[in-house]
Amino acid sequence: MSRIAYVNGQYVPHAEAAVHIEDRGYQFADGVYEVCEVRDGALIDAPRHLARLWRSLKELRIRAPMGEAALRVVLRETVRRNRVRDGIVYLQVTRGVARRDHYFPSDATPPALVVTARAHDRAKMDAGAEAGIRVITVPENRWPRVDIKTVGLLPNVLVKQQAKEAGAKEAWYVDAEGYVTEGGSTNAWIVTQDDVIVTRPAESGVLRGVTRTTLFDLAEKLQMRIEERRFTVAEAKAAKEAFNTAATALVTPVVAIDGALVGEGRPGPVALGLRRRFHEFAERD
Ligand code: PDD
Repeated sequence: MSRIAYVNGQYVPHAEAAVHIEDRGYQFADGVYEVCEVRDGALIDAPRHLARLWRSLKELRIRAPMGEAALRVVLRETVRRNRVRDGIVYLQVTRGVARRDHYFPSDATPPALVVTARAHDRAKMDAGAEAGIRVITVPENRWPRVDIKTVGLLPNVLVKQQAKEAGAKEAWYVDAEGYVTEGGSTNAWIVTQDDVIVTRPAESGVLRGVTRTTLFDLAEKLQMRIEERRFTVAEAKAAKEAFNTAATALVTPVVAIDGALVGEGRPGPVALGLRRRFHEFAERD
């Protein structure tokens, strides 16, 4: 079946979908994005993803390409046209197409919107994630505004590739004081020896992950102890469990950090339990 992409008002064959060479996303990474899980044909936590998108746009003073309700229609329609049951929908908004110039283009320049959807094999993904992954740690080297979900992901690309070449799946950034911030494309968590689930406060040096926010709901409803505070690499290595969260990873157990096994070096019951129960609490659209 041929894939379809939404590009600036039109649904076009994915293979032919293109943006202009002077799109500011292409020239300056002057744009923002969201990735939303699709499960059984439904968008997961769409209101939270759209709320964050609106925040990112506002922080960068990029106009919204359309209203939230219309954007939801485009997301659903892209999923439908690609017949995605389980997978992801990706959306990207840039400051539009204009002659290359660092200054913002005139207000008459419309923002550019692209939406794509892609299926994945859920059983295979679950099997991979539930086996656990390895992470490496790397020095934090990104700009301070990581709270904005911009398409400027070069530092993330480089550390993820470094992780891959080291036989790991994710890289955890570590700040100058030795505290873990987050992964290259995930939020980072640990479970302490006394069963407290810990992640870094969203206000400092991390993206406020939607999966992270929903996990707080989940942990509270399940009456699990959950805490927002910073943790060091040493604390993570000595933890009972560690895991990552993202729309693309859900809850993925981490079994080794820089080669040191976490706990017994196997996915733990807290991470696996949260992964399996996640969709009871996430919002379906
Ligand atoms: N990444 N931190 C970073 C740096 C991320 O890029 C992501 C998501 C997250 C988790 O956010 P959420 O739970 O809302 O997916 C945290 C997406 C999936 C990506 O870049 O593909």
